This record gives sequence, structure tokens and C-alpha cells, in this order.
Amino acid sequence: MKETLLKIREEALSQIRATDADLEAIRIRYLGKKGELTAVLRGMGQLTPEERPVVGQIANEVREAIEAELTARAEEQKAAELDARLVKEKVDVTVPGTPALVGHVHPIARIQREMEEIFIGMGFDIVEGPEVEYDYYNFQALNIPPDHPARDTQDTFYISENILLRTQTSSVQARTMETRKPPIRIVSPGRVYRSDAVDATHSPLFHQMEGLVIDKGVTMGNLKGALEMFAQTMFGAETKVRFRPHHFPFTEPSAEVDVSCFACGGKGCRLCKGEGWIEILGAGMVHPNVLTMGGIDPEEYSGFAFGMGIERIAMLKYHIDDMRHLYENDVRFLTQF
Ligand code: DAH
Repeated sequence: MKETLLKIREEALSQIRATDADLEAIRIRYLGKKGELTAVLRGMGQLTPEERPVVGQIANEVREAIEAELTARAEEQKAAELDARLVKEKVDVTVPGTPALVGHVHPIARIQREMEEIFIGMGFDIVEGPEVEYDYYNFQALNIPPDHPARDTQDTFYISENILLRTQTSSVQARTMETRKPPIRIVSPGRVYRSDAVDATHSPLFHQMEGLVIDKGVTMGNLKGALEMFAQTMFGAETKVRFRPHHFPFTEPSAEVDVSCFACGGKGCRLCKGEGWIEILGAGMVHPNVLTMGGIDPEEYSGFAFGMGIERIAMLKYHIDDMRHLYENDVRFLTQF
């Protein structure tokens, strides 16, 4: 019996060591209910009482040896499997990847930021106002009462009788005067709306940037200086600025402002339509009525204001001849900037 047990041990251990397959089959074969070792133990009844403990001890040692070998081999198999997977799934991090397509800032947003930077550099704050606006801030507080003819040129989309989509960022002027005390020095960029048909120079939605400065002793000279600084930073140090008398209800005096054509230097070309000058904005000294409605004493304070179209600046700077390009989201166009 002892020889049988040792033979079982020998066989089992060498099988376990040699196999790469599932160890469970081997365990059942030797240690299972109908296994070879179990069969030997069943026969122990025939042994003499002296032999029994000796054989019993050997049988236990054999079972322990087989179990230990099974456990050790299982660990080995697991480690080998992991090694194989690590080799198979190895990633070469030095292989160049597929580049992700990265977009970039839209030309309107880009020019807007450039304009903001210039004014921030001159000490202006950026202030925003709502696009859905009261008639009061868009018109009345800007010295444009109901029935004023200036409303005809700025027809817009009405939400109700006194709420509309703002036609101009000038609406932020009145809002700012209500919430800030002078000295005020702000620019306000944003979307504005008009019920205009789409063509090369018109869109029912476009962008403006408003400027407002109010303090003691502010003059037209300050307005000229600020706009000249802006124009030269935006279009080049050679740029000249020209003021033409104009009328806006919320400024007095008012002016339309041109810059010398930066494409031809003023000689006249396609960009400036032979004029040598390009109109870029409207401006003026804030009307006393506007200051008064904003709760600011026009005897004590004065101010200037200006408003310009951001699309117009972008079109001039990038030589874009049709405004529609800016809204059609054609990547062949947009990737050029
Ligand atoms: N809001 C005017 C427009 O949309 C532009 C403008 C002109 C703004 C004169 C001003 C200004 O602040 O003083 O046509």
C-alpha cells in the first residue's frame, strides 16, 4: 500500500508540473471522491491496527504534497498568462498618433478680442448688456423718444411693445450710467439685431462695440486721441483719423469717423473705393439729455461715446468682400484666419 501511495504521489506531481491545461481535471483524478488517493484510503480498513496510522500519515503527506503542487502550479500558470498578455498588449508610445483636428477662434471673435485688448490697454472695462432689451434703454434713454425718425433706420424684432432685440450696443450706455458713478470708462461688445435683408454688407444679426467715457472735463480732444490710438493699433501706426460732422440723437456734436485707407495709404484703391478713406464708426460727445436721464449732472460731467461694427473692422482687416462669408461656417473660408 505504501508503494501505491508513493507511486500516486510521483505520478500526480509530474503530471501537475508538466501541464499547461486546466489543473482541475488532475485534482479530480487524484483527490476527487472517486480519485485514486481516495480509493487507496477506502482500502485502509483491511490494514492491521499497527499499520493503519503509519499508512494514514503517508496518505496525508501525499495529499498535502499534491495540494501544494496544485497551488504552486496554478500561481505559475497565472503569472505566465499575465506575461503573455503584457507582451501581446504592449503599446508603443513612440508611434506617432492620429492628430485630432483642432478648430480655432472665429474671425469675428478674434477681432473682437483684439479690439477689447486695445481698449483694456487704455484703461477701459469690458461691460456686457442684454440682447433682449427694453425700448427704454435701446431708444428712449438715448434721446430717441417714440415716433422719433431715427427709429426708422433701426427697425428690429419686437418681443412685445416695449421689449425688443437691441439694435445697437448703445443701450449699454444708459444701463452703465445707472449702475456706475463717473469716472466711467467702458467698452461693450455684443450682438445687435435689425430687420435688414441679407446682402454683402447687411445681416439681421451683427456685432458692435460701444465705448463710453464720462468724467469731469472730458472733451472732443480726448475722443479724437482715444480713437486715433485705437485706429493706429488696429490698422498700423501710419493710420490717420478723420472726423466728418454727422447727426446722432444721443451725441452732440456727433461725427462719423474715417481712417485713412491702410491698403493704399490714402491714394485710392479698390478697398476704399477710390476715396482714400474708410468709414469705421460713429461717435460724439454724450448729449446732455442722455447724461440727465442717466442720473449724471451735465453741468458737472461730460463724456464721449462711440460705436463701431465688429464685422466691418474684421472685413477691412482681413480684406473680406462679403459679410455672408462670416456667417456661413464654411471651413474652407474659416481656416484661412
Ligand atoms: N449706435 C450707432 C449705430 O448703431 C453708432 C454710434 C454712433 C454709437 C455714435 C455711439 C455714438 O455711441 O456716439 O449706428
